[in-house]
Amino acid sequence: MIDQRLSSNALESRAVYECTPSLLHRLHFQNTDYRMFESAEQYSSMAQDHVNEALYILTRYEHEVNGGDDEIVLDVGCGSGDVTVQVLGRMKRWKQIVGIDFNSAMIEFANRNAPDVNKYSFEVVNFNKPISEEFSKKKFNKIFSFFALQWMKNRRTVAQNIYDLLAPGGQAFLLLVSYSKIYEIWDDIAESSEWKNHIPFSGPLNELVYAEKPEELVIAPLKDVGLKIVKSEILERKNAFKANEDTDDSKIEKLKTVDPFLKSIPVEKKDRYLEDLLERVKTKIGPNGATDYTALIVIAQKD
Ligand SMILES: C[S@@+](CC[C@H](N)C(=O)[O-])C[C@H]1O[C@@H](n2cnc3c(N)ncnc32)[C@H](O)[C@@H]1O
Repeated sequence: MIDQRLSSNALESRAVYECTPSLLHRLHFQNTDYRMFESAEQYSSMAQDHVNEALYILTRYEHEVNGGDDEIVLDVGCGSGDVTVQVLGRMKRWKQIVGIDFNSAMIEFANRNAPDVNKYSFEVVNFNKPISEEFSKKKFNKIFSFFALQWMKNRRTVAQNIYDLLAPGGQAFLLLVSYSKIYEIWDDIAESSEWKNHIPFSGPLNELVYAEKPEELVIAPLKDVGLKIVKSEILERKNAFKANEDTDDSKIEKLKTVDPFLKSIPVEKKDRYLEDLLERVKTKIGPNGATDYTALIVIAQKD
């Protein structure tokens, strides 16, 4: 058994002496953030559902968000920047919009496609770790995050980052996936004998999925760091993420854009992996694929 009290460095060095190579591979990634998604281009080509869904949710809660024009806003886990530009960019006449993501390919893509370089900028930042002193000098009137925070397990650190980056009176608008069966499928895959040696992962991918009160896991650390909760709501969303056509190929293309493990699967096994994933989705969720999810919307404010 690994002693949980060991620091991650100590854990890794002890693991070097005590573990088999495949276990070592998994342990190495256990305490680090791994890169998700195969390609930014592909993610962007399928981003329309994320755009529509973020727009739907934001429009529904817009009246709860204060302020507006001439403000500086941050989009955490911005991915390819499609939602940043097409949803946030059209919401108000913000003065400046900064998008951050820990995936440098996403950030490179987002910067390349930014419609106005004076207004938009995208930076590589890992929000699951304490942000750098340099970045925390920036202050934002609004912090948005769409479909990203459920991936970040250091919720106290994430909450502190939000607090530190908000200007006084600033608000955070957070949309998380608090439940979708697809996370249970990925957790099963990560433990399956066929795939576990390739997957740099241990433990639930999205802890919210297994929590009785997922909102508490998100809200408690935000309150702890001194933020006021303006709103917290759970919404069941149906048919939000559907494939373009009712074919296996189309469903696989859709799954590929959000799958966190495909990148780690050897090239010659990727097709087999996707086939297995689709089969599991059809069996556990339904013939249309992973189209539904439960949204957790949290609006928090810094006094
Ligand atoms: C499902 S995508 C959502 C992207 C975009 N917000 C959208 O709605 O299309 C989740 C994004 O969160 C990013 N992400 C996950 N963990 C992160 C972390 N620790 N720090 C920064 N970004 C992270 C991923 O790289 C990915 O681009």
